Amino acid sequence: MRRALPAGLAVLAVAVVVAAASLGGDGDDEPLPAGEAAPRSEPRPSSAPVAHLAALQRLAERNGGNRAAGTPGDRASARYVAARLRRAGWSVRLQPVRFPYFDEHSRPELALGRRRLRGVSTLRYSGSGSISGPVGPIDLRPPGAPGERDSGCRMSDFAGFPRGGVALMERGTCQLSLKVVNARRAGAVGALIFNDGRPGRSGTIEGTLGGPPARIPALFITHPAGQRLAARAGERVRMKVDADSETRTTHNVVADLEGATREVAMAGAHIDSVTRGPGINDNGSGVATLLAAGEELAASKRPHERSVRLAFWGAEELGLIGSRRYVRGLSPVERRRIAGYLNLDMVASGNGGRFVYSGGDRRSAGLARTARRELTRRGVRSQRRGLAGGSDHASFEAAGIPVAGLFSGASEIKDRAQRELWGGRANRPFDRCYHLRCDRLDAIDRRTLRELSGAAAATLRAVARGAA
Ligand code: BES
Ligand code: ZN
Repeated sequence: MRRALPAGLAVLAVAVVVAAASLGGDGDDEPLPAGEAAPRSEPRPSSAPVAHLAALQRLAERNGGNRAAGTPGDRASARYVAARLRRAGWSVRLQPVRFPYFDEHSRPELALGRRRLRGVSTLRYSGSGSISGPVGPIDLRPPGAPGERDSGCRMSDFAGFPRGGVALMERGTCQLSLKVVNARRAGAVGALIFNDGRPGRSGTIEGTLGGPPARIPALFITHPAGQRLAARAGERVRMKVDADSETRTTHNVVADLEGATREVAMAGAHIDSVTRGPGINDNGSGVATLLAAGEELAASKRPHERSVRLAFWGAEELGLIGSRRYVRGLSPVERRRIAGYLNLDMVASGNGGRFVYSGGDRRSAGLARTARRELTRRGVRSQRRGLAGGSDHASFEAAGIPVAGLFSGASEIKDRAQRELWGGRANRPFDRCYHLRCDRLDAIDRRTLRELSGAAAATLRAVARGAA
């Protein structure tokens, strides 16, 4: 087996590559695919994970500071991943993934005449725009009155509602989205749903309509605001929601390297960040790890027993959407061919731990054992931990495919025993920048990344050899 470079040398090598590249002496003149702007300090054909992380940080910076699903930073990241893999010799396919997109640009507004009302929140996937119309209460009952709070659940509730009005409804009985859809069908130009006023249910909630498109602005308001409006039926209200609410498309990037058998060793990492920040640890680190491993694997020319497939998922942060889409699209035969799936999500946490998780079955446990063995072999101590459904491995586990993953920790607190194992700071989170703006290149821990990415690459090679 090829020995990894000693840590110091690896860092030096990266420094030299990055320095050479930024001097323009990169020597890489292969044309990029259409639509690809060559990043100025593009790392060399085979790079350490940090070089890829630096590229992802730049892509976020040039695209509004994040790489969230459906944004320009997400597209640029997927193009970067696909271009690097193609250049390394992988056959790459982009799988479209549709998902509900919602991004609110400013706070919602609600006014009665000239008075702004407080206690207003936008329902997720509300339509966008400014409208006004007379308030129309929909089958409301006086507070405390008996009977179902089912205002707006049936079309008959809207008898006599004036077209062009704003429907005022109370929370209860059916889904918020049904009330809003019914209101729109009855000719409403806006929808207001107020809380029911039972104990603990007076304020606003972060409600959702489940998906786009609502087509009309839809707000959730407090119980008192609802009561106030109910007493002013027929008076004009003005509503404003400023949001993008639509179905968008992102892509899974799926790359194959053919082996001797039709069995597949698979590893994956999600491409998208949250909207708050550039997502360099979550999950630039997983992407960079797999890209570097993929480049090495393709360059090594050593025949592997199993085929290797790398997948870079879209829209994980919105509910594992890309990986679910992928698994759903596999035939039973294709599913059975996947010998194991290794998930990489957060492997460079600033105050990092070294965790290995896996599915509950015997073959998953075998994968986890291989990963822990590779860590031990590098002098790295690890802990097992459960992660339940928090990342893309869950999509595979649900389909009965063996899964395991490496993880360096998110907002959980590192205890003193863990500090003894891995250094860093006790009583502080593993990643203080989890899902925040500061999830940047300068906040990651390079030793954590080096150790986990080295072990991840070795685990993937072991699975490809059929040894796990
Ligand atoms: N990277 C995080 C957390 C994580 C890391 C979970 C490793 C599991 C393994 C992930 O992107 C995330 O934020 N997950 C969400 C749930 C997901 C279904 C949106 C979470 O854990 O809250
Ligand atoms: Zn993640």
